[in-house]
Amino acid sequence: MGITAIFVILAVGPASRYLLGKLPRIDGLRIMEVEHKIFPDGESYIRFPEEVSGEDLIVLQGTHPPQDRHLIQAILIGENALDLGARSIVLVSPYLAYARQDKRFLDGEAVSIKTILKTLHQVGYKRIYTINIHSPWIAEESPIPLIDLRAEKILAKYLKEIGLGDSFIVSMGKKGREMARMVAEELNTDYASAKSSRDRRTGEVKIELGEVSAEKAVVVDDIISTGGTMASVVKELKRMGVRKVYAACIHALLVGGAVEKIMGSGAERIIASDTIPNSYAEYSIIGLVEEAIRRELR
Ligand code: R5P
Repeated sequence: MGITAIFVILAVGPASRYLLGKLPRIDGLRIMEVEHKIFPDGESYIRFPEEVSGEDLIVLQGTHPPQDRHLIQAILIGENALDLGARSIVLVSPYLAYARQDKRFLDGEAVSIKTILKTLHQVGYKRIYTINIHSPWIAEESPIPLIDLRAEKILAKYLKEIGLGDSFIVSMGKKGREMARMVAEELNTDYASAKSSRDRRTGEVKIELGEVSAEKAVVVDDIISTGGTMASVVKELKRMGVRKVYAACIHALLVGGAVEKIMGSGAERIIASDTIPNSYAEYSIIGLVEEAIRRELR
């Protein structure tokens, strides 16, 4: 499955430049920062500062907000590479946009992630690496091999480092249960999963959680977007008498008043990774980006 060239170019797109300084030196990898600018009308401009003809490219470009712009840039970079004679292109996108719209929840809705994956496939991407994709089952139906790297171990290690290794772990939903299990297993602690349901029209989140009696709990979720889900669980744990509750996630979209909502529900702190640039990024997923690159270098 790996590329058998002497070296591979890591084409760093504008969305992921902030990760570049964290990446260790990797033998066989040549870094190319993709030049870009935004035209006055809002369109993206892309230019490669060096030759890519005959080369294998790993494109590092997150598709976090502004998602549409970052996706278009991923398309422009991939297409430009192949048009200039590159041999192959692979995408590493730590956060994969549109993965939450993975089914037709209401009649007539677009299954957006299907369109995104089909488009990236048509551009010519051979594989996509991402981290904790919102719906792991998307990979099974994807027209393009989708490799979902998991950040639970990194999160657990970080929780240990900051003295939260003995916390009770709580997550939401079936998928969340797996995440809570993975984190708790690493920490050798207990976990529970709340049932959560969202009203598709109003966005209101309802939580059902069995009694938790713990001094300290960490609520873990793959994504914090509006903060509604996280805030509901934190509030419920506080109501049950848990003294300190921490809000942890992988992807911190933190839209609108998410931070105020979560802190207002009684959370001690928000702990996020840097899959998306944000002010609560306390731990880094750069090790997973490195893993994706090394898999391609094999
Ligand atoms: C749901 O499946 C996810 O794991 C998150 O709980 C959800 O996306 C969070 O959204 P929000 O912050 O808007 O409640």
